[in-house]
Amino acid sequence: MADPGFFITFEGGEGAGKSTQIARLEKRLRARGYEVLVTREPGGSPGAEAVRAVLLSGAAEAFGPRMEAILFAAARADHVEQVIRPAIARGQLVLCDRFIDSSRVYQGVTGNLEAGFMRELERATVGDTMPDLTLVFDIDPKIGMQRAKVRRGVETPDRFEKEELAVHQARRDAFLDIAAREPERCVIIDAEMDPDTVADDVADVVYTALAERTTRSLMAWRS
Ligand code: TYD
Repeated sequence: MADPGFFITFEGGEGAGKSTQIARLEKRLRARGYEVLVTREPGGSPGAEAVRAVLLSGAAEAFGPRMEAILFAAARADHVEQVIRPAIARGQLVLCDRFIDSSRVYQGVTGNLEAGFMRELERATVGDTMPDLTLVFDIDPKIGMQRAKVRRGVETPDRFEKEELAVHQARRDAFLDIAAREPERCVIIDAEMDPDTVADDVADVVYTALAERTTRSLMAWRS
């Protein structure tokens, strides 16, 4: 009996080290024999990557957060349909750098869009393809922005990196709020620790969730 696919998302503010940690987790999981697919948002499919370029250049900013939210959602719909759902159906472990919680936080909370509108967008684009597990990388925005600056080097900050510290702080609170409201899906990771410690924490959480998944599917198979 094959294990079903498993969908893990990585969320958090700028400079939290998500990408580094996803790469490290991917390596560990592959070494254990898992089939892993790593992807990211906005983007992850050709259609969504085209929309990514528009969003991160700031070309849509002038048209307001509602326009941006719809573009993020359009990119997500394509990514879910073309990449995420098929990979889960094949039984793969999908690791996705950002997903719905980024829209809830960046567009919904700090973009001041109505919760009902955001829920409708989410329902129409994601449906029941919800993450099985979401790791919320938590970091003081002052440290995160400093890290993002070092990583960026001489390049100019993107549309979202250039915002004020207070906005980044509000996003941190909003991510923590989601984690508190949806504890069955979300686990907070202390992203201020050194990268090796964070990698161990991430692996512990993921291995535990995978073991629970195997138990669940065994029980379903037996009954
Ligand atoms: P990216 O360069 O992928 O950044 P990071 O390393 O921070 O994940 O940039 C993605 C940016 O887009 C990031 O600032 C968060 C923002 N974003 C949203 O505003 N809404 C969304 O739904 C998603 C997926 C990302």
